[in-house]
Amino acid sequence: MLACESLEAERPERMLFIGAQSHAALRGQAGLTGWQPLKPHADAWDKAGFSRNDKLPEGKWPWVMVLPQKSRDETLLWFSLARDRIAAGGKLLAAMPNTAGAGRFEKELVRATGRVDSIQKNKCRAFVATDDGSWNEAIFAEWRELGRERKIDGTEYVTQPGIFSSSHVDPGSKLLVRHLPKSLRGRVADLGAGWGYLSSSALDACDGITHIDLYEADARALDCARKNLTRHSGKASFHWHDVTKGLTEKYDAILMNPPFHSGQATDVDLGRAFIGSAIAALRRGGKLLLVANRQLPYEAVLESQSLAWRKIAEDSTYKVVLADKR
Ligand SMILES: C[S@@+](CC[C@H](N)C(=O)[O-])C[C@H]1O[C@@H](n2cnc3c(N)ncnc32)[C@H](O)[C@@H]1O
Repeated sequence: MLACESLEAERPERMLFIGAQSHAALRGQAGLTGWQPLKPHADAWDKAGFSRNDKLPEGKWPWVMVLPQKSRDETLLWFSLARDRIAAGGKLLAAMPNTAGAGRFEKELVRATGRVDSIQKNKCRAFVATDDGSWNEAIFAEWRELGRERKIDGTEYVTQPGIFSSSHVDPGSKLLVRHLPKSLRGRVADLGAGWGYLSSSALDACDGITHIDLYEADARALDCARKNLTRHSGKASFHWHDVTKGLTEKYDAILMNPPFHSGQATDVDLGRAFIGSAIAALRRGGKLLLVANRQLPYEAVLESQSLAWRKIAEDSTYKVVLADKR
């Protein structure tokens, strides 16, 4: 909220927030609309009583605020999406932690807009560009192109910038798929399903799977998963869902490559919460198949809930663990 605070006196009556995250400094702000593809942030935004659109709205706003995560392509794309929505004479306000490359992205924005006003505080940088009619539209056009759907090389899988593993199949997930028990059957869930690699591969490999529910926090990844599973469309359902909140269905098997980052920071508890939700949602006799970095201590969670587990594969970076709910 650094950007907002620095311009407190100038706040307009309408604002759009791309990558919206709730903050006390925004309370009471009239005419504020947010767009946020990540479910936990979207839930927090809704809970704080702000208005939100599931799809990035079209229109023009005097201020467009941008709070990107850490992907280069996502950040530049979001600058262009903001540009398209700024009313003549309006402002683009961006804020980022220094560790996410704030200085580098500020320079990128200067390249496109000629100048920005910038402040630094709390290891973050906020920068503001004012549309004076002289912005370099060719640069914004280049950034807009980054939003085009892309394919993973050598495959038909589509992805978008900013989502997990948008340029390649994750090597941990690849290892899991190489060791997928063909005997998996019944109703299956894929937790943190991303753009759908594990689900698509499991449906290809295991004839006994009757249905897969894909749960994913990133709405953009889920949009890609819907496309990537069109050939399995009768057998897959897609849920924009925060897995740490638990699941309402029961499953015969659960697959996952659990996340272990929240924003910039490593967060092993996120993976632990995924495993907790999975165990609670497994039927007795159900199987949990997960891949993780070798050093992540997930076996302790399985043991604390009395699951029998064994490592069925590993390489120099990852391990694949199969656990049974007895
Ligand atoms: C390590 S990636 C695995 C993605 C995919 N399964 C694959 O194999 O490519 C973890 C995924 O979990 C998602 N995620 C992170 N936090 C989540 C949450 N609280 N609820 C649901 N999904 C979440 C991320 O967006 C990411 O797509």
